[in-house]
Amino acid sequence: MPKIKTFFQCQTCGYTSPKWLGRCPDCGAWNSLVEEKKETVTRHSSLVSHLGKAEPRSLSSITGEYGQRTSTGIKELDRVLGGGVVAGSVVLIGGDPGIGKSTLLLQTFSGLSKECGKVLYVSGEESPEQIKIRSERLSINSEEIVLLSETSLEAIVNAASKLAPKAIVVDSIQTVYTEELVSAPGSVSQVRDCAAKLMLFAKRSDIPVFLVGHVTKEGAIAGPRVLEHIVDTVLYFEGDRGHSYRILRTVKNRFGSTNEIGIFEMSDSGLLEVENPSELFLLERPLNVSGSTVVASLEGTRPLMVEIQSLVSQTNFGVPRRTTIGVDFNRVNLLVAVLEKRAGLYLGGMDIFVNVVGGLRIIEPAVDLGIITTIASSLKDIPVDPKIFVFGEVGLSGEIRAVTQAEARIKEASKIGFKRAVMPLGNTGKIKNNFGLEVIGIKNVEDCLEAVFT
Ligand code: TYD
Ligand code: MG
Repeated sequence: MPKIKTFFQCQTCGYTSPKWLGRCPDCGAWNSLVEEKKETVTRHSSLVSHLGKAEPRSLSSITGEYGQRTSTGIKELDRVLGGGVVAGSVVLIGGDPGIGKSTLLLQTFSGLSKECGKVLYVSGEESPEQIKIRSERLSINSEEIVLLSETSLEAIVNAASKLAPKAIVVDSIQTVYTEELVSAPGSVSQVRDCAAKLMLFAKRSDIPVFLVGHVTKEGAIAGPRVLEHIVDTVLYFEGDRGHSYRILRTVKNRFGSTNEIGIFEMSDSGLLEVENPSELFLLERPLNVSGSTVVASLEGTRPLMVEIQSLVSQTNFGVPRRTTIGVDFNRVNLLVAVLEKRAGLYLGGMDIFVNVVGGLRIIEPAVDLGIITTIASSLKDIPVDPKIFVFGEVGLSGEIRAVTQAEARIKEASKIGFKRAVMPLGNTGKIKNNFGLEVIGIKNVEDCLEAVFT
């Protein structure tokens, strides 16, 4: 007789405790522990026979076939994955409900089926008819895409073993349950166990598996974070409901670089790849208005021109407000202090708001110079010439430090009509080609303000 053990598990980090706690001692989240049940004696499932046994092998006997990549037909996705889908890999695509995960995967699978044949789309959320309606909207119709509406992991693995598809989607992992556990689908233990079993299945069969995970704020459903350490690749599909752009971001990738992004636009007939994101992000830029600067930023391997806006105004209450969207809050505070001390600007009694246009989030240090310039521009109420762009890291003593790939940034800027680059002096010497732009090398913050405002 299997015994059922009750315990409490944290929804954010997976910490388990025999008793309920108001705050997780591991990750510090409040009210995140929920009751879980587990059978202490697990039955031998039929799954084991499907998964097969692994044999020890020597490194040299392993052929290069493992790790072969297949193109999905969507360039933005291929790049984020590190050049295509790797055989036997498990890719988790997380995102808010309704952001477009199912749409992206249906389009991906249409591309994959053209490339390599039969693919299996398992949905625990939608019936085949509902998926058909979406596919009509996306103009996808193929015999090679096989739909399965199922939530039992054992049944899914069974069907997949029989069909031997070239790729599998499980949409979403939170709806799937394994019969070995008694807890409800969507709980931490179910989600983890199912993902681990699908991982094993993918590795033994060499079939890539895509998992969809809804990001949930709280409640009894475990989010994709509890799976991040299990799967090979974690992608987050982000975007603002109000905007049509969607950004696919790599958080973890065992087969490629992280911090790559793919940019899409949600249209009436599905997701479109954005080939020229710099143009898109600068489309509605106000010209000759103070508090707006363009930065040549680098996301992974791709340069991206983005506008950084700021508003500096007199504080009406005692403590000045500082708000940032898209850039690090502490970084902005640090740069404000540098501006005060090294460039003599008075910002102590000012509210400062900084925003990256288009819902982007930029973490690389080259954006520092943009933040400095936009704040100074707003404070002095002097617009920055719209043909100027900046990039460079700012140090605490006001010095401007060199950044990587200056040439790639200048090239991108020249493509969309910029004329002058204000950049670290340390970078200017190494540039072989300036793509017809005037390059201004600067050493410190004061130089920067002089170059930009005169
Ligand atoms: P969906 O892929 O169902 O989101 P998720 O799987 O992440 O929950 O996409 C849902 C949204 O996308 C929905 O609000 C409608 C919109 N949409 C379009 O705007 N155009 C389209 O062609 C499709 C299929 C969906
Ligand atoms: Mg969906």
